[in-house]
Amino acid sequence: MQDEIFHAPPAFAAQAAVDADRRRLMEQAASARPEQFWLEQAGRIAWASPPTIASASDFTGDVAIRWFADGTLNASISCLDRHLATRPDQVALIWEGQDGQSERLTYAALHERVCRMANVLRTLGVGRGDRVAVHLPLVADSVVAMLACARVGAVHVVLFGGFSAEALADRLADSGAIVAITADEARRGAKRVPLKAMMDEALARTDAHAVRALLVLRVTGAEIVMQPGRDYALAPLLAQAAADCPAETMSAEDPLFVLYTSGSTGKPKGMVHATGGYMVWAAFTHDLVFDHRPDDVFWCTADVAWITGHSYVVYGPLANGGTILLFEGLPSHPAPGRWWQVIARHRVTTFYTAPTAIRALMREGDDVVARHDLSSLRLLGSVGEPISPDAWLWFHDVVGQGRCPVVDTWWQTETGGIMIAPLPASVPQKPGSATLPLPGVHSVLLTDKGAVIAGEGEGCLCMAQSWPGQARTIWGDHARFRQTYFSFAPGYYFSGDGARRDSDGYYWITGRVDDVINVSGHRIGSAEIEDAVATDHRFAECAAVGIAHDLKGQGLVVFAVPRDGTADGLAGHATQAIVRVVGRYAAPETIYLVPDLPKTRSGKIVRRLLRKIAGHELDGLGDLSTLADPSVVDRLVDAVARQG
Ligand code: WT7
Repeated sequence: MQDEIFHAPPAFAAQAAVDADRRRLMEQAASARPEQFWLEQAGRIAWASPPTIASASDFTGDVAIRWFADGTLNASISCLDRHLATRPDQVALIWEGQDGQSERLTYAALHERVCRMANVLRTLGVGRGDRVAVHLPLVADSVVAMLACARVGAVHVVLFGGFSAEALADRLADSGAIVAITADEARRGAKRVPLKAMMDEALARTDAHAVRALLVLRVTGAEIVMQPGRDYALAPLLAQAAADCPAETMSAEDPLFVLYTSGSTGKPKGMVHATGGYMVWAAFTHDLVFDHRPDDVFWCTADVAWITGHSYVVYGPLANGGTILLFEGLPSHPAPGRWWQVIARHRVTTFYTAPTAIRALMREGDDVVARHDLSSLRLLGSVGEPISPDAWLWFHDVVGQGRCPVVDTWWQTETGGIMIAPLPASVPQKPGSATLPLPGVHSVLLTDKGAVIAGEGEGCLCMAQSWPGQARTIWGDHARFRQTYFSFAPGYYFSGDGARRDSDGYYWITGRVDDVINVSGHRIGSAEIEDAVATDHRFAECAAVGIAHDLKGQGLVVFAVPRDGTADGLAGHATQAIVRVVGRYAAPETIYLVPDLPKTRSGKIVRRLLRKIAGHELDGLGDLSTLADPSVVDRLVDAVARQG
């Protein structure tokens, strides 16, 4: 079957900054003179003292990744101060609350808010290198808090509102945060998430944390308990703080933030991103992939607690002097079409969201979309999981009305920003393909044995060279960083994803080749789930797998082996353990209580079989001869059939 190819509509192409010739020149420059190319790209952000060297990175040995190492800067200057001269009155941030409240902050106003917050942090003794946890709903203050940390040289650790108290406690202890910022509650549709109470519980759980002050933002006005000497209401402190705050000058390699993400084994990893390289990458990719224009209104629907929010709600668009939109609410609360209303009301030009949301919106029907004026849109983007061609086409035809290119962007928490994506006017799109690596990105496919695949083929997606936005290490565990990403094939960064490359060199991401599960764009480690269930001693062991799910991309299925017999409500206990240890967002689709798990002779769980059984694909169970006890399979299939 011939893939359908979409060229940028002429009206879009006519005004786009990068056409095919320009892209070719960039690629040539990046490969022929990489030092010069990247030093030029570094000029996209503001430096106190510009770098004279680009990369000094080595994927072998101890693995050292360094970019722009002799440059000095402060990330908040790039996002705020330098725009004050040229666009003080341009709106930097539009916030809309789920119930229709809204707020517009110009660059001058955002600058002042950030300075006040930075001064509050300084008063609490926060300075260079200190970690600050940010645990807020999607309100303007979440962006303000991140930039304020950057301003005083502190490392922000943004924590998702959906994490359980235990998950928060782990991350607070691991990062060594000395101050945390939370809110009374977050609004989530008709529900309220008690953020402050969760944080109280997290702080009470462990004495291994270093948090000495908790700043509390009022969002809903709910009743909360303040602990004297530890908790401070934020509003009065902000009101008293000075409206200007000198920025700390940081070295390019100083960490800007730590962000936790799940892997296939062990506890979540704190990925460390360095100030200079990350900022250059955020600005470079945001400009190229979204064909950024000064009058754009850019809406990335991600929560700031994920890397997508860091790079494309906050740092990329603000470094480029854009206008960002922050919407607090869900796509269909209180009624279908809520997101389209936001686009129409604020004349959004660029809309960047996830396939899981696109599939849900698609289900509501085309007439819901048609009731809103989406004529301001000029570019659409997708991220987080493979997008199926039918969802891509719906996005393109119904939401974009054929007028907007669709950029499918592949990247990861570890990459800091987009790696594989079309530049909208210069790379024709094929629905379902993330297309080509950006200029300067050296993607390769390797076999299981680590051999390079040339031309067409399918294999493990790796990078042969470093790029500025690459994570530098795992917080406090460089050996794990090396082991996780650089031991698969020496000299290569291993992404954990599989991909196919077609005859045009286009990449088609096939999904994770490790035990990471992607539920609605949330990355969940099988080990995290299994360790959570193991905290309940009613279970002897368990295994978590992901299976195809119409709306969520993947659904989480858990096979749990009860210690003695099955009793009523046992499955519920497994779910409770997961919600308690990981968070509500990780509650599984299905729990099967089973007598045994399929294992190899060396005791490794054969997840491939579990995925098939969970997906009711009983015909292709394949070779069972590697199992220590092949009769387990029949007992498993029976148990699953009985539980429906
Ligand atoms: C994993 C990274 C990157 C920001 C959001 C998630 C999957 C991401 C795509 C895409 C197919 C994708 C990969 C990747 N993924 N984008 N366009 N097509 N798969 O960041 O939580 O670090 O997850 O998301 O499996 O490894 P993350």
